[in-house]
Amino acid sequence: MAHHLDNKAVHQAEVLSNRPISAGKDQPNYLLELKLDRSFTALPGQFIQIQISEPPLTTHRELEHQNGEFQPWTVEAELDHKTPLLNRPFSLADLRTVDGFTQASVLYKVRGPGTIRLSQFRASDNLTLFGPLGSSVFTLPERVDRVVMVGGGLGLAGLLFWTNGLIEKGLPVTMVAGAPTAEQIPLPKKLWSQRTSDTRNLSNVFSRLGPEAVNLYVATDDGSAGHKGFVTEVFDQVLAEKPPSERWAVYACGPWAMLRLIARAADEANVFCQVSLEEMMACGIGACQACVIKVRADNQQGWQYKLCCTQGPVFDARTIVWDQD
Ligand SMILES: Cc1cc2nc3c(=O)[nH]c(=O)nc-3n(C[C@H](O)[C@H](O)[C@H](O)COP(=O)(O)OP(=O)(O)OC[C@H]3O[C@@H](n4cnc5c(N)ncnc54)[C@H](O)[C@@H]3O)c2cc1C
Ligand code: FES
Repeated sequence: MAHHLDNKAVHQAEVLSNRPISAGKDQPNYLLELKLDRSFTALPGQFIQIQISEPPLTTHRELEHQNGEFQPWTVEAELDHKTPLLNRPFSLADLRTVDGFTQASVLYKVRGPGTIRLSQFRASDNLTLFGPLGSSVFTLPERVDRVVMVGGGLGLAGLLFWTNGLIEKGLPVTMVAGAPTAEQIPLPKKLWSQRTSDTRNLSNVFSRLGPEAVNLYVATDDGSAGHKGFVTEVFDQVLAEKPPSERWAVYACGPWAMLRLIARAADEANVFCQVSLEEMMACGIGACQACVIKVRADNQQGWQYKLCCTQGPVFDARTIVWDQD
């Protein structure tokens, strides 16, 4: 599919499904599947902004039900319902063409007002999104033997589109997924608990992640699944097993403190490493300066500012000034 990096536009999407993929009641993880016009294309690493201020149809229905009559939706009504007006950024967890349409998947954690609102959208509701955003995407160096994905919490969502593409190319993948508890691992339990090869009933986002293609490790803070501790500890063990003759590429997305440790370990092992930064964003288009970070530069002070939204979100880990102060 032809793709230009700067093809951002406002798109209307139809919700195909929007459901929790984990049993946890506290901040559950949801998978949102969207149908878009074929003109929507994106590259792994790019992201979208979803306009959450739009009411889902179901909320119209709830209002109608509560008040006994239909209430037209207004900005005041949105504010009454504590609706956030800013768009919210999300990674594309998968993108494919089905029956002449583009289908996009978003994997998200219900955290605050925006994602609570997002979780209320139902099949056949429409939503508006803006994108694809970001100008720096994941890349694969030549002659790589294995790729290692490291996802901290919902950071894993930012790696899945890229992972699926690399699996299709036939590259062996090692994946390290971390979460506070087993319930919060952003993968279907079937994948990390039984490691079943039968992935037929899973969404396209997950169906290629069976044991034949992916060597999966999980880490949880409380030890309720996999290693008790941090993904970075598992990553160190994985790196220690690297045969000297192999060329590896590492991709990571998650909290800053995690990324800093992954970047340091990859650098010490002399392994190519890209990180996707999910800094707080407001406008997503380079206007508000909310997402500024320091990167190394060949100037007197040794660094310069870059914007994650327009100049990222993917960066070579060696270029980032990890102590931002
Ligand atoms: C490029 C990019 C890609 C993203 N991709 C995903 C994704 O695929 N899935 C997903 O679940 N989330 C993703 N996020 C984070 C997502 O945008 C926030 O979770 C969301 O905006 C929260 O909105 P809210 O109104 O529900 O919560 P808010 O009330 O805005 O925040 C609730 C809590 O979440 C924290 N939070 C808000 N934004 C972020 C952020 N950027 N990173 C970490 N914590 C945050 C806040 O500090 C607060 O504690 C991404 C962010 C960026 C910048
Ligand atoms: S989010 Fe506004 S400049 Fe990056």
